[in-house]
Amino acid sequence: MQSQREKLAKPFAQVWTEADYRASAPAKLIVCGEHAVVYGQPAIAVALSDIRARSALSRGPRGSGPQIIAHDLQTVWNRETAADNPLLQLVERTLEQLEVAERDLEISFSSEIPIASGMGSGAAIATALVRVLAAYAGRELRAGEISAMVYASEQRFHGTPSGIDNTVVAYEQPIWYQRPPAQPDGTRPAPSIESLQISAPFSILIGDTGIRSATHRPVGAVRERWQKQPERYNRLFDQIGAISAQIRSCLASGDHKALGALLDANQKLLGQIGVSLPKLNQLVRAARNAGALGAKLSGAGWGGVMFALVTPESRDAVRQALLDAGAARVLETLVGVPS
Ligand code: PMV
Repeated sequence: MQSQREKLAKPFAQVWTEADYRASAPAKLIVCGEHAVVYGQPAIAVALSDIRARSALSRGPRGSGPQIIAHDLQTVWNRETAADNPLLQLVERTLEQLEVAERDLEISFSSEIPIASGMGSGAAIATALVRVLAAYAGRELRAGEISAMVYASEQRFHGTPSGIDNTVVAYEQPIWYQRPPAQPDGTRPAPSIESLQISAPFSILIGDTGIRSATHRPVGAVRERWQKQPERYNRLFDQIGAISAQIRSCLASGDHKALGALLDANQKLLGQIGVSLPKLNQLVRAARNAGALGAKLSGAGWGGVMFALVTPESRDAVRQALLDAGAARVLETLVGVPS
């Protein structure tokens, strides 16, 4: 039997090539509506297909049970060492649901998505794991089924996820997402998910603050503030929801200038609900000063990433301005290209 150290010593690229089954899932970016979406407002998110989490599956030694090999963390999780690990539990539940009898499996994963940075790294890893298990079981799972499995797992990380992350990652297309708030009995009605029309693809630069922030912290802080001042926060969430509706129209019409102004307006409101940070504000300001059409944080905030809407003329200057303002890295992607 291979020791855990031997398993971890293999580069993931080799594990991937040698594996019996492979699957992957994309990063995501919330264009607008984060936080407000937890309170029933609409939000827009897109999948970033060229930034991915990957999972590879091979048969494991007899009697080993499922083992998750987290290459990036240089860790192995199994029933003995990490029975309550959320990803191991997701794997166990998925195997149960897929009615897989043979469960001695080595499931490796690696991700290009920066963790705890608002780009859906957790949802993408979970989705890649569910997809590779479905491939092993010889089952075609619909995006909605995968999304539901991942949602149940995300609930363990932060109690009240809106479900937008798992949805956009599993559907892998731009979405309009709205979910009515939880009912007094705690149940949450099903979300309305629409595939979004983007008539003219647009370029963005994603600036990473390099500050990791677990989603549940800002989400919990916003909840506390909302409980103390419900009218004020409901008003802010309503305004963010109205911006999402206007952004939807801009995406359909291809009006990038108006889109930029609306991103700026959304950022201002995110500042007012208290989830921005001086470093995020600095990057947003630097991007705008260098000619971006608009810029805002994306995801839960208190760190993570921001993005700037750029034109071919402003792209290089904005990239340099983000680096000069202290971005840990800058990623570039084109949003709205049919996959
Ligand atoms: O930071 P992320 O990628 O986990 O995004 C969280 C988005 C929120 O709207 C803040 C929370 C949610 O559940 O929708």
